Amino acid sequence: AQVQALEHIENDFRAAPELLQNIVRGMHKAMDLGLSKPDQTLAMLPSYIVGSATGNEKGRCLALDLGGTNFRVCEVLLLGQPGQYTMQQKKFKIPHTLKIAPATQLFSFIADGIHSFLEEFATPEERQGASCSAISLGFTFSFPVVQRALNYGELLQWNKGFTNPGAVGKDVVGLLQDALHTRGIEVTVTALLNDTVGALMACSYHYPNTVMGAILGTGSNTAYMERMSRITKFDPLAVTPGASAPKRQVCGEDEMVINMEWGAFDNEGDVIPYNRYDRMLDVNSTNPGCQMFEKRISGLYLGEIFRLAILDMVRLKLVFNGKISCALETPYVLDTSVISTIVDDASPDFCEGTPVVEEKLGLQFTCAADRYIVRRVATLVAYRSARFAGAALGAVVLRRDDRLARSTSEEPLTLGIDGSLYEHFTTFRENMVQSFRETVGEDNMTKLRIVLTKDGSGVGAAVAAIMNREGKCL
Ligand code: BG6
Ligand code: GLC
Repeated sequence: AQVQALEHIENDFRAAPELLQNIVRGMHKAMDLGLSKPDQTLAMLPSYIVGSATGNEKGRCLALDLGGTNFRVCEVLLLGQPGQYTMQQKKFKIPHTLKIAPATQLFSFIADGIHSFLEEFATPEERQGASCSAISLGFTFSFPVVQRALNYGELLQWNKGFTNPGAVGKDVVGLLQDALHTRGIEVTVTALLNDTVGALMACSYHYPNTVMGAILGTGSNTAYMERMSRITKFDPLAVTPGASAPKRQVCGEDEMVINMEWGAFDNEGDVIPYNRYDRMLDVNSTNPGCQMFEKRISGLYLGEIFRLAILDMVRLKLVFNGKISCALETPYVLDTSVISTIVDDASPDFCEGTPVVEEKLGLQFTCAADRYIVRRVATLVAYRSARFAGAALGAVVLRRDDRLARSTSEEPLTLGIDGSLYEHFTTFRENMVQSFRETVGEDNMTKLRIVLTKDGSGVGAAVAAIMNREGKCL
């Protein structure tokens, strides 16, 4: 019975080559649709950032990061040399209650964070409000936002467990700016960007040949440089009341950074099958039917999918002698670090993974078969995630086959990737790269470079704010 159940689970988490090809085809189709009309499955959101950084950007500004593991306030000084900057930062943990509280409370918390940061790091003139102009701030807000200008964007919907009422449909820059004004904080939000856009900008500050920025962390998403001529839904001259007017009309061959919001890819379930655990997770999530791709690949969900599969096997008395613990019945009790500890533990007797799993689940392994099953299930969940993510990244690179064709091994096309899953989960990263390699083809691999891009939300936000100051954004 154990073997049969495992075979069933192996089938549930299949990531066979034909599924990867489906992802590439499906992604290209969805990208085209999203670029041509609003309200499509892939939102394909214009970022108002035209062209990439040069590495010569220079200046100081504040940056804010909301939507990953931590909320951060940073002060960034770009030194005007590729990859050269200094940064100071303060991290804050967002309590769960604040993720569901009215939006005004969340934005007050953010403004308080900025205030406490400035108390520590601002120059004496800034602290006394005596400097002649307000400090400019780049706001990395890692949720889907329809921008109407670099400093104006309406929230489409929350995800990753945030549900704060009173923000959907509103301009999040306005919400933040109001909270700052109420406290008399002299800071002006000059750029709003997604974390993927931040990763792309930060990476292009090091390597101007950057074409993509991706996040594989709590959530997952990608931004890439798209040719303006293919963004047919975009009207650079359309202005929303309240948004700053577009600064210039762009010509045909310019490129704009597009935030894909690929977490929503295949919400319809036409491209890759959902299994029973995907469905269970979705039904009990804060956003049923939404972010279906993200729910299969990103860090917030891997532990939960694993828990649901193990719980199922325990109920069938196939593992842990059929004993159910309170922890095993607690949603989201396992974060991705547990999965990476299990999967990355290569020792034959599973010595590192055992105590972690026993402690987290409040259960003791009773035999070698228990250990085998737990490790196998965790491996399958993570393997599918990594393979799907790699194929999706490959699909985006292939979309820019023109840029790929112009690249060389001396000057490779560059992808900046950030996020805890990619940074800290070795087996995930290896499987992801392997799937990416299979998708783009061995020959192309020599013309591509993947770079771990930390601090996209700090450096990337600063780059965007400074490019804007220099008139390089719409
Ligand atoms: C951080 C970036 O390093 O990674 C954030 O600066 C991003 O902008 C985050 O949201 C994503 O990773 P995680 O694992 O924190 O969701
Ligand atoms: C979610 C958000 C997206 C963000 C990603 C990674 O998918 O919708 O905007 O980029 O998480 O943080």
